[in-house]
Amino acid sequence: MSSILVTGGAGFIGANFVLDWLRRTDESVVNLDKLTYAGNRDNLAQADERRHVFVHGDIADAALVSSLLAQHRPRAIVNFAAESHVDRSIHGPSEFIDTNVVGTFRLLEAVRGWLGQGAAAQQASFRFVHVSTDEVYGSLQPGEPAFTETHPYDPNSPYAASKAASDHLVRAWHHTYGLPVLTTNCSNNYGPLHFPEKLIPLTIVNALSGKPLPVYGDGLQVRDWLYVTDHCSAIRRVLEAGRVGETYNVGGWNEKANIEVVRSICALLDALRPRSDGRSYAEQIAFVQDRPGHDRRYAIDARKIERELGWKPAESFESGLRKTVQWYLDNPEWVRRVQTGAYREWIARHYQQPPAEAAAAAA
Ligand code: NAD
Ligand code: TYD
Repeated sequence: MSSILVTGGAGFIGANFVLDWLRRTDESVVNLDKLTYAGNRDNLAQADERRHVFVHGDIADAALVSSLLAQHRPRAIVNFAAESHVDRSIHGPSEFIDTNVVGTFRLLEAVRGWLGQGAAAQQASFRFVHVSTDEVYGSLQPGEPAFTETHPYDPNSPYAASKAASDHLVRAWHHTYGLPVLTTNCSNNYGPLHFPEKLIPLTIVNALSGKPLPVYGDGLQVRDWLYVTDHCSAIRRVLEAGRVGETYNVGGWNEKANIEVVRSICALLDALRPRSDGRSYAEQIAFVQDRPGHDRRYAIDARKIERELGWKPAESFESGLRKTVQWYLDNPEWVRRVQTGAYREWIARHYQQPPAEAAAAAA
């Protein structure tokens, strides 16, 4: 049976991708994940274990990756593994360099070594899909055209810089060594299984537990939102029909100011799970200190993938956000289990809760 190797498949997008892949194809998935704070075996509880091989390990472990390639002979790799949270990259960039830069380098080298030993036919059909972000392009002014694939790289956060570096490595391994790579640069995702350190799940989880809803600065920063399963369908399409060596920007034409996103979540919760005092969740909104170097606006021009590969998102922002809020309402146990001591420590440190409040949260 043919298989693909997915890295980082216990995280938010990777797990959604693996679950979708198992539902929609009859191929196996080898899933290599380090299980950092963001990786969670619970995310894969619905995976068909007959076609899903989970391997706990690091993409930077070249010997492990080489042995997995030799053993499973995957026809493709989809590389999701990364440190992914901008705020964490500001507090501590080191792991972002280790995984996003050095890890990607080691993974590319292991793949190069393996392909070098293989048959020409295997080399011709093999694909390496590198999953990246729109944040590598930097920040747009209001009214500037959205990012196309030829927009210059201009990363501003340690996270964005580390992803930009990984994109450059992937590109160079294609141009120099002929590795059959494709890169996707996607806008902000949201949906089920999203770790509640990012804006949308944090807002839902905090709202339901009566906590403040932190909005950085003036809340007018703009992000371009895509429902996670639409990102997964774009990656599948790129893997299936994308041109080797090309980059595809992925987005749903859904630019929203952060405050608008938070207000929309509050309105959905007001309807679906009204507060016991009858007041709106919007009363919990709290403007807090801005993120250093905060990018003002991201926007993706998705015309290339639409035109060349016929990809289109299935969800609007309204339908996707409703599904997302409903998923968090339906899965309190998942939320409870990811809110470990390490999660609470991060929230307390990052939002500088007074010690008494942090202790209460950890209790
Ligand atoms: P995530 O943080 O939820 O998950 C990352 C996963 O990678 C976790 O399961 C983690 O355990 C694993 N991992 C981390 N370091 C590893 C290592 N060294 N070896 C093996 N596994 C490792 O991230 P996500 O939001 O699912 O993002 C997945 C990918 O998509 C990332 O590359 C990210 O840059 C990219 N991306 C994310 C978004 C978004 O909005 N979340 C948008 C565009 C692109
Ligand atoms: P985030 O979900 O961290 O994604 P990214 O920084 O990769 O875009 O943040 C989305 C936007 O929401 C970003 O402009 C920062 C902002 N934000 C807040 O206003 N408050 C928060 O508590 C968080 C986590 C993010």
